Amino acid sequence: MRIYRAKDYNDLSRKAANIISAQVIMKPDAVLGLATGSSPIGTYKQLIDWYKKGDLDFSEVKTINLDEYKGLSPEDEQSYYHFMHTNLFDHINIKQENTNIPNGREEDSEKECNRYDNVINECGGIDLQLLGIGSNGHIGFNEPGISFDKTTHCVALTENTIKANARFFISERDVPRYAYSMGIKNIMQAKSILLIASGERKADALYESLFGPITPAVPASILQLHNNVSIVADEEALSRVLADHDIISGGQIS
Ligand code: F6R
Repeated sequence: MRIYRAKDYNDLSRKAANIISAQVIMKPDAVLGLATGSSPIGTYKQLIDWYKKGDLDFSEVKTINLDEYKGLSPEDEQSYYHFMHTNLFDHINIKQENTNIPNGREEDSEKECNRYDNVINECGGIDLQLLGIGSNGHIGFNEPGISFDKTTHCVALTENTIKANARFFISERDVPRYAYSMGIKNIMQAKSILLIASGERKADALYESLFGPITPAVPASILQLHNNVSIVADEEALSRVLADHDIISGGQIS
């Protein structure tokens, strides 16, 4: 595991975008696993900027998003479909048919989860999975207590996540109670993983995930067992890690 220390959110966004760019340059038909939320917005902005400058080409790239609210349609402004189009897809030359997001309108959970697992397999697996982290250590919508061997599944959101996501909705009551999410097993099968974390709110979850016991109580702690993980986090998110460890060049910790 490599941990890259960023000064602030802008620095984090540039560093994360550099890692994603390197993947796309080295493998123009890369399969990128993507996340929504506030963490990756700056990273996506930076990728758009480099695309506009002619430095990046997404024409052969495929994407597979981590999750989507169950019950929201793509037209819904709070859907992750809408988020991805507004924050990335509409500004780069990715082909719509190469982008994948769980279908929030599908009421049959088993059918949608099987379909999504097949999408991941048919793409040949994910080359680079981008992840944010919840303040309770969740990744995707894999909440504390989740079994590590789950593939795509329908999740009942915890109170903690409903509260955290309420900022994107008119009121907490409007936050959907269910979501489709890739499982930990799908995430762990990605060839490489890039987790980004910003702000003091993430400091405990990040520390527990990286140095605590590997336990379903902290879903991101499973990443300790993956052999190709990069963490890019700002100093606030790293505050607890930095109290115990130095991060030296090349992402190594001591
Ligand atoms: C989003 C996702 C979530 C977020 C996490 C952090 O697709 O899967 O796990 O990454 O909730 O959210 P932010 O970045 O808003 O703090």
